[in-house]
Amino acid sequence: MIRLEDVQHNPEVEVLMKKVHEYLATMLAITHDEEHAHHVANLSYRTLKVLGYEEREAELAAIAGYMHDIGNVVNRYEHGRSGALIAFHLLMRMGMPAEEIAIVIAAIGNHEERSGIAVSNVAAAVILADKSNVHYTRVRKEDEATFTTRDRVNYAARESYLAAEPETREIVMHLKIDTSICSVMEYFEIFMTKMLLCRRAANFLNCRFGLVINGNHML
Ligand SMILES: [Fe+2]
Ligand SMILES: [Fe+2]
Repeated sequence: MIRLEDVQHNPEVEVLMKKVHEYLATMLAITHDEEHAHHVANLSYRTLKVLGYEEREAELAAIAGYMHDIGNVVNRYEHGRSGALIAFHLLMRMGMPAEEIAIVIAAIGNHEERSGIAVSNVAAAVILADKSNVHYTRVRKEDEATFTTRDRVNYAARESYLAAEPETREIVMHLKIDTSICSVMEYFEIFMTKMLLCRRAANFLNCRFGLVINGNHML
């Protein structure tokens, strides 16, 4: 059985992930480094476990979460799809059964808001974990004058976390935003499509999605 550690310590995965970080640095895009990969892996796993899903399904979510941005090594555009194909080859060679590979690559290929759909529990968990990782430490640029709106929204996010409640079947994203950097309206302008994807992902897990910004329930 291929475990998360096997994927993390695979030399080819290590090289490709490092290159993702290096290439995205050249365009000063927000970080998609190992820390983001670990964050998404852990949160995807935890979300499914807390909601009562099986251990192996949660581990597949962790593996998909860890590898979800690997396609950025090819191009930022459509990195979900290229990442799915890269993961297919890597996991095939590592000996993962095709049934499990399908689950992992479908989650990777569906994590982007442009074309992503929560097609499985694993895909839903990865969407929720990835989209909730909004944080100022992910902004690479130092000159605020060069910030894109996405940079500014991330830079304004002082705290962010996702909480799944098994009793009430609620998945709530909590955000603390410095409104002197970015208004709540601006957040919605940029993150509305991500939030809709999260809502559909939560619904797939038979949960309601909630968004709390600065202590106020927005959704
Ligand atoms: Fe991504
Ligand atoms: Fe990501």
